[in-house]
Amino acid sequence: MNEKQAVAVKAVEFVETGMVLGIGTGSTVNYFINALADKIKDGLKITAVSTSAATTKLAESLGIRITSLDEVEKVDLTIDGADEVDAQFNGIKGGGGALLFEKIVAKASQQNIWIVDSSKIVKQLGKFPLPVEVTTFGAYRLLQHFDELGYRPIVRKINSQTFITDSGNYIIDLHLDVIKDPANLETELKLITGVVECGLFINIANRIIAGYPDRIEIINK
Ligand code: 5RP
Repeated sequence: MNEKQAVAVKAVEFVETGMVLGIGTGSTVNYFINALADKIKDGLKITAVSTSAATTKLAESLGIRITSLDEVEKVDLTIDGADEVDAQFNGIKGGGGALLFEKIVAKASQQNIWIVDSSKIVKQLGKFPLPVEVTTFGAYRLLQHFDELGYRPIVRKINSQTFITDSGNYIIDLHLDVIKDPANLETELKLITGVVECGLFINIANRIIAGYPDRIEIINK
């Protein structure tokens, strides 16, 4: 079992019958969805909310019914991956492009567990390019603006096609190297007209399940 798979399997232990469960997005979460589907076949009963079209597709293909976020009163627990996590439990997410729905579901959730392999644990955020979801209208102006700020922006492309999010927006990845004050940067970015969301998740995760070659660590906030 690789680190991603190990943390995903561990995370299923935190899911209890009766819960409304938010399901994140990404390759680690895909392992979790598979493990969850097995538990559901064994009798676990949950209501599931998804954070992306990709997650919905995989979950439904494995027999997990997805309910809309607007149909549930609250989300008890969300399990998601992350691209970087620091010691304060702040993180960068959005490597898979699902940051907007991920943040909406996470903020609606009473508990948030991130499942990560050891490469995601960092002293300081910023080596991983920070995803910023922007409206397609005026995106080039934002690109120029970020460039002037020295943020080394690149519009995300997949196979030379501009990547479009589930909400029909673009993603501009900022190559910052070091983010000294993540909370401040989140506020700064969110105040820019045309920015829909950014991949800084501050004060959201309560528990990290981190996978290492020889062990799994569960770190509670
Ligand atoms: C998607 C995300 C993912 O959780 C993040 O990119 C981690 O992905 P992976 O598990 O594939 O490493 O934020 O928007």
